[in-house]
Amino acid sequence: MRVHVIHGPNLNLLGEREPDVYGSKTLADIDAEIAEAARALGIEVSCAQYSSEGAIVDALHAARAAADVVLINPGAYTHYSYAIADAIAAIRIPVVEVHLSNIAAREAFRSHSVVAPVCRGSVAGFGSDSYVAALHAASKIPIK
Ligand code: DQA
Repeated sequence: MRVHVIHGPNLNLLGEREPDVYGSKTLADIDAEIAEAARALGIEVSCAQYSSEGAIVDALHAARAAADVVLINPGAYTHYSYAIADAIAAIRIPVVEVHLSNIAAREAFRSHSVVAPVCRGSVAGFGSDSYVAALHAASKIPIK
């Protein structure tokens, strides 16, 4: 199984960005944890960070040929990007939504995800373990 992990905007600043909310791990630390979990599960994983909405749409399109499952943390786009929601709906491969923080327990605007209805499932609130849990769940999705 091949899994592509899409990290959205501002996640490149993890470690220095609002550590009280997002913790002290850098994105490189998180990618290393994802890679270790993938190795243990026998999954081929790639991770990339994209700041713009269009780049995320392009990455989702590219995943059609390059991945069996996508994990996506769309950052703030989660709450308003119909373009990303449409791209997820357009591709046939399963997409799992991931958040470090518990978006349901924060500001009102974060409690709504426009991508959740087109994702296979969502994991939020466990810091970097959200990605690891999502990877475990992804490993059990039957691949066509
Ligand atoms: C986030 C939550 C979003 O509301 C926020 O805009 C982010 C990070 C998370 O992982 O908790 O950038 O997706």
